[in-house]
Amino acid sequence: MNDTKTALITGANKGLGFEIAAGLGALGHRIIVGARDHGRGTAAAEKLRAAGVDAVAIPLDVTDDRSVTDAVALLPNRLDVLVNNAGISGPTGPDWGQDPTTLDLDVVRRVVDTNVLGVIRVTNALLPLLRRSPSPRIVNISSSVGSLTWQSDPAVEVGPIMAAYSPTKSFLNAVTVHYARQLAGTNILINAACPGLVATDFTGGQGRPPQD
Ligand SMILES: NC(=O)c1ccc[n+]([C@@H]2O[C@H](COP(=O)([O-])OP(=O)(O)OC[C@H]3O[C@@H](n4cnc5c(N)ncnc54)[C@H](OP(=O)(O)O)[C@@H]3O)[C@@H](O)[C@H]2O)c1
Repeated sequence: MNDTKTALITGANKGLGFEIAAGLGALGHRIIVGARDHGRGTAAAEKLRAAGVDAVAIPLDVTDDRSVTDAVALLPNRLDVLVNNAGISGPTGPDWGQDPTTLDLDVVRRVVDTNVLGVIRVTNALLPLLRRSPSPRIVNISSSVGSLTWQSDPAVEVGPIMAAYSPTKSFLNAVTVHYARQLAGTNILINAACPGLVATDFTGGQGRPPQD
């Protein structure tokens, strides 16, 4: 039996997704780079291969049903690890602010579609493949800004009000809990992870290097 584990990371063409791919690749996983722009995904997979990682890229836009269905058709029939990493903040004002009193609902819909519905869409499409693994793992990349406890505690420094982005991570945390409840008693583990502030395009380069 082939013991090599296969991991799919969404939004793996850059930022945290790329570094998660590099890290899992260094651990010996076969890497599938999910990227909505196939050119950017292919370039990332090439970079991983140059570093000795067994990596390929597939086109995958988490907001698009057809793209997800097409991606499943390109995958091997067993998947061991799914990292739901793709995410957006939506446009922000000065200092990353998103004022809830003036929010554009189309922006909210777009951020929810990517950060929450995208995770559900991809996870449910891939569960049949994950169920063929002896130890399937799903990690949803969340954020501390999704903590309602922290957001409502004046003593906690939670940064700017990001009224489109932050609630999507609260929503994602809640959805993750319900998956965990539903999958309890199976061999599938699902968790939400918060990376802390990491220097990517998302943060305009603020935070610690993604390799750390
Ligand atoms: N950086 C931080 O400090 C921080 C902190 C907490 C949580 N996070 C979370 O970490 C995750 C990664 O963030 P990052 O900092 O690495 O941001 P990033 O550098 O902006 O990367 C985001 C990735 O998501 C992809 N993406 C966006 N929409 C997509 C879609 N519809 N379908 C597929 N891929 C899509 C992007 O693809 P394109 O290149 O095509 O745009 C890109 O690959 C996000 O979920 C974010 O919320 C980040």
